[in-house]
Amino acid sequence: MKIERWAELAPLTTFGIPARTAALVTWADAEDLRHVMADESLPRPLKAVGGGSNLLFTGDFEGTVLLREVRPDERFVPGLPVSGGMVLDDFCRQAADAGIRGPENLSGIPGTIGGALVQNAGAYGAEIGEFLAVARVFDLTSGEVMTVNREWMQFSYRHSRLKAEEGRYIIIDALFEFPEDAAPRLDYGNLSRELQGVEPTPLAVRQAVLRVRNSKLPQPAEVGSAGSFFRNPEVAPELLEPDMPRFLLPSGLAKVPAAWLIDRCGFKGVRRGGAMVWPLQPLVICNPEFKATASDVVTLENEIISAVKERFNITLLAEVEHV
Ligand code: EPU
Repeated sequence: MKIERWAELAPLTTFGIPARTAALVTWADAEDLRHVMADESLPRPLKAVGGGSNLLFTGDFEGTVLLREVRPDERFVPGLPVSGGMVLDDFCRQAADAGIRGPENLSGIPGTIGGALVQNAGAYGAEIGEFLAVARVFDLTSGEVMTVNREWMQFSYRHSRLKAEEGRYIIIDALFEFPEDAAPRLDYGNLSRELQGVEPTPLAVRQAVLRVRNSKLPQPAEVGSAGSFFRNPEVAPELLEPDMPRFLLPSGLAKVPAAWLIDRCGFKGVRRGGAMVWPLQPLVICNPEFKATASDVVTLENEIISAVKERFNITLLAEVEHV
């Protein structure tokens, strides 16, 4: 376990926005977390961070960041758990290489298994939560490790019980299960077009997903961002306009692409300070030269929310977690 005081957070997040944390603890196992609980010199609150790919620190953090030691060399063995610190895309790649169907649609999502489970990361018609068999979670209020199942986790769109009870539980490891007779999921977006004439093996689907992602989303190594900045809103039928794309939900509401609303308000490529709306996918606010401050991002965020509210009477909610 490593403890640093007033550590810089920019390199720990894919957004790359400068902010400091009063303390940074790099931990590897439940024993380390028990030490953190007992150490009164570490300021509260405690904030768990995995790959830092869905986070915006809006200022210096007065508490302690608990950074999961990422294991770049971790191997996925079917039927055995993987650690919460495993890189999600390593898991997707190894599963696809082994011919396992399920996680290939999640290929290319930055971050770790633990972070992905907390926010139920999803893409191209799949969400990580649907594949969870059991996870071991550390309870920061008791210091105990509990084994929990998918139902306990209460997964929904970009949400889980761990997110609802923010700050209480940390994923130690997770065991996934993949039905053997699962069919490929190609309905979303351009996937079936990408795969025309190709047998949709898990590896072929993975490659198609990576091609589609790379054509729209900024490359995390080259351009700072936290992926989709806003959630796709659920909209009452009376607010739908004729040309608005929509996906009808069983609740009677319609899910509308936030990217479309933002696009219509003319924000593609708009800059405030060092922050910019990604021209190819306006749902992403990015940090193209790694010069943006949190206030540049928040200025752009608020302008987008106001413009969409004014034009469509729809309230956008951030998908990126603000700390
Ligand atoms: N659109 C526009 N203009 C654009 C781009 C998109 O109008 O310039 C509209 C189009 O109608 C398009 C629609 O937005 O059909 C949807 O776009 P896309 O397929 O790129 O997906 P999304 O709904 O914008 C969601 C997730 C992404 C995920 C993709 C693919 C959320 C908040 N975002 O985006 O997740 O990769 O679907 O499954 O649900 C993330 O969470 O960080 C993330 C990147």
